[in-house]
Amino acid sequence: ADAPDGVSAQYFSACDSTNVQARLIAESSIDRTDTWIVAGEQSAGRGRRGREWSSNRGNFFGSKLWFPKKSVNFSMLPYQVALAIRETLVKLGAANDAVKCKWPNDILINEKKASGVLIEASSGIGDKPDYVVIGIGINLVHFPENAQFPATSLMRETGIAADINTVFQILSSELNGLLNVGDNEAIIQAWENESWGLGQIRQVNLIDERFEARLLSLGPDGGLLVRKLPEGQELTIYAGDIFENYPDDERQS
Ligand code: BTN
Repeated sequence: ADAPDGVSAQYFSACDSTNVQARLIAESSIDRTDTWIVAGEQSAGRGRRGREWSSNRGNFFGSKLWFPKKSVNFSMLPYQVALAIRETLVKLGAANDAVKCKWPNDILINEKKASGVLIEASSGIGDKPDYVVIGIGINLVHFPENAQFPATSLMRETGIAADINTVFQILSSELNGLLNVGDNEAIIQAWENESWGLGQIRQVNLIDERFEARLLSLGPDGGLLVRKLPEGQELTIYAGDIFENYPDDERQS
């Protein structure tokens, strides 16, 4: 991929996973310059929570290898990344209203998943890790038919054929911009304004529990505040998946 000015990038026609390659580079090199690993296809694309990420040629697969100079605001990072991807899809031509952020960091076009993010940090030192890998997959053309949450692609929803270079140029610059936003309140506001499902009843799947809840807002610590149904108690969740399950129904909460 051609990198925009000041952005370093390595392109692999194929690799196992750009997140894996980014980690290998971080662990084996003394160079601490931020760089991107972009691949044409992945043989072992990884998703959140141990899932696989289907990675056929034509879609975008990239990982930003980031060596933060200051402490990282991990509670806001997922939302900064999601907003950068959302902006990228809009700049590529998707309708602004059609592109939404789904908690924690999926991006939907017309209510179907078009992009996902896998963030991994080097182990160790709290909010000042040696490096952070921000892995981003965007379904430009292909999408899985059998995904747990319905999937789609930019092409399928908009008819737009975006090439990987253009996507990379826009995305890398949007992400640089978003990573420089230090104002948590602004990030929360922006994400909430563009979010899918806030105010509505959804199924919440945690690791060992699932329940219906009304999704309320994003907390200052990055958790999602929900009102559990039918009991009505409020709680904040930090890891999990949201599913559609109920259309906007009449249930009381
Ligand atoms: C998810 O929604 O579960 C996250 C998907 C993340 C996929 C991207 S593709 C580029 C990078 N390399 C990987 O193996 N995963 C991420």
